[in-house]
Amino acid sequence: MCGIVGYIGNKQAYNILIKGLKRLEYRGYDSAGIAIINQGCKIFKKQGKVSELDALVKSKNLHGTIGLGHTRWATHGEPNDTNAHPHESMHKKFIIIHNGIIENYTRLKKRLEDRGYKFKSDTDTEVLVNLIEYIYIKGKLDAETAVRLALSKVVGAYGLVIACTDEKDKLIAARKGSPLVIGVGEQEYFLASDATPIVEYTKSVIYLHDDDMAVIGRNGMSLRNLKSTKIHKKPIIQKLELDVDKIEKNGFAHYMLKEIHEQPRSIKDTFRGRLRPDVNALKLGGLHYVMKDIIHAKRIIIIACGTSYHAGLVGEFLIEEFGRIPTEVEYASEFRYRDPIIYESDIVIAISQSGETADTLAAIELAKSKGATVVGICNVVGSSIPRATMGGVYTHAGPEIGVASTKAFTTQVTVLIMMAMEIGYKNGAIKEEQYSKLIKELSLIPEKISTILKQGDYIKEISAIYKDATNALYLGRGYLYPVAMEGALKLKEISYIHAEGYPAAEMKHGPIALIDENMPVIIIATKDKSYEKIVNNIQEVKARKGIVIAIVTEGDNTISSMADHVVEVPDTEFALAPLLTVIPLQLFSYYIAVMRGCNVDQPRNLAKSVTVE
Ligand code: AGP
Ligand code: GLU
Repeated sequence: MCGIVGYIGNKQAYNILIKGLKRLEYRGYDSAGIAIINQGCKIFKKQGKVSELDALVKSKNLHGTIGLGHTRWATHGEPNDTNAHPHESMHKKFIIIHNGIIENYTRLKKRLEDRGYKFKSDTDTEVLVNLIEYIYIKGKLDAETAVRLALSKVVGAYGLVIACTDEKDKLIAARKGSPLVIGVGEQEYFLASDATPIVEYTKSVIYLHDDDMAVIGRNGMSLRNLKSTKIHKKPIIQKLELDVDKIEKNGFAHYMLKEIHEQPRSIKDTFRGRLRPDVNALKLGGLHYVMKDIIHAKRIIIIACGTSYHAGLVGEFLIEEFGRIPTEVEYASEFRYRDPIIYESDIVIAISQSGETADTLAAIELAKSKGATVVGICNVVGSSIPRATMGGVYTHAGPEIGVASTKAFTTQVTVLIMMAMEIGYKNGAIKEEQYSKLIKELSLIPEKISTILKQGDYIKEISAIYKDATNALYLGRGYLYPVAMEGALKLKEISYIHAEGYPAAEMKHGPIALIDENMPVIIIATKDKSYEKIVNNIQEVKARKGIVIAIVTEGDNTISSMADHVVEVPDTEFALAPLLTVIPLQLFSYYIAVMRGCNVDQPRNLAKSVTVE
């Protein structure tokens, strides 16, 4: 979720804010806006680049030494000028910029509308700023108390900065689930989503923790915890060590590595407000109008390209297992040209991180022209594919900068798992007990991924052994066959080593001829119904002097006695294993590519979004 900057001090705010937003552009965004508080409050915001906002505003010669700036990565409401931040409350008492998701915004919005509030935008953020104002006016409160009380009613994630036009010389900042940093200068304070916009002005920073709220005046600040209402006597000031480049990647060497490590959070954000293990429920609002058609469909066709196609392969297994609806997966680039048979009763699911892949868009239009119902699974709100489909589910992975897709894959699979469960539960294919078991296990996945990520150094050691390989073979069965395909794609697209993913059972139909002492064979062999069979495949490879790197369920002593290297992942439901087993493969290809001196974030010949045919 995107970029926040704030300033209060003795300098003109505008230049500091606009430069800060430019420093945050790397995080990916669709709109930008700025508010300068002087006598009144002037807000300028628009869809598009920070440079376009700057071109619009700098001629206005804005004066003011307090202000807010925001780059938006839309989650609720299309990217457009109205939905851009800052948002102003109806009676213009409060201005807000916000990163994150207010999960219960529809209920809060209804209550505010019942009390006469009118809304200009479709965002969840505007609901929050009006809630603050409503509480402030109704309770005749001070700004800080109104913010505190409003936040106690909010479910979701936020990093936010608020200004109150009745209390001009202060900014209020709060954080829950979305980072916020305060830079401490000489009689001036800087606020930002990360230290990138701050580091050139001061190295003294205070990192807010979840449920912290700071009230910042020109000559001092207070910091309290919203839960304990404890005021931190002396907030801990830390010294920034990192240089700007490293900060942009949050201390990681590459965006790809940062995004691999973001997966516990991006999966949490994907099921935020949708997966409710506490009440044993799932809610996919974006499919509300088409779910009836989906659960009674005779056939589901998944169309996608590249990594999204591999997520679709997992989706096929999931929907057939839990939804019991015949499902097929097609490369969109093939589907669009081969004049496929499509019935009006068909449901087509288009999967795309960027929402702009030309082949997938063309396949959508083809399916729609034949009367099928088309839904999307996408990561970019308001991109072409969500606009071309009749419903869908956003992955909320946040911007994926690295060309090699990582968190997009796991969040797409997360959405497909929730969809398959929802379909099966609604059409009676799965019972309550299995449904609640899956919901519970899915909620544990982010933590399990975190434990796998801790094996990075060990995986790096294995990568060093095989960084000069010329070929590699990836094998898996069932749910893990698409993971083999995805692992192979990762290796070839960033390290340029030729790699193939194959169903392990297919070995004897050809690939086994490739096996020799120079061929690393990565076998995904976690405990599932075909475990014994994959053990046989490992023995077949070893019998031909092949090298086996096995991804196994932790505690597996059988395979560890056969394989050359073993990476353990926590146990989980068969259907959820792709979310865990792909992580070591992402790290394996990342470290090999780095050791080979490849441009990991921008591999040769590749684009992040293939908008051409
Ligand atoms: C995967 O790492 C590649 N970036 C590529 O295969 C990508 O998945 C494919 O181009 C589809 O992109 P999309 O998900 O944005 O439609
Ligand atoms: N949910 C808010 C919106 O859609 C904030 C999104 C963000 O983090 O940029 O406007």
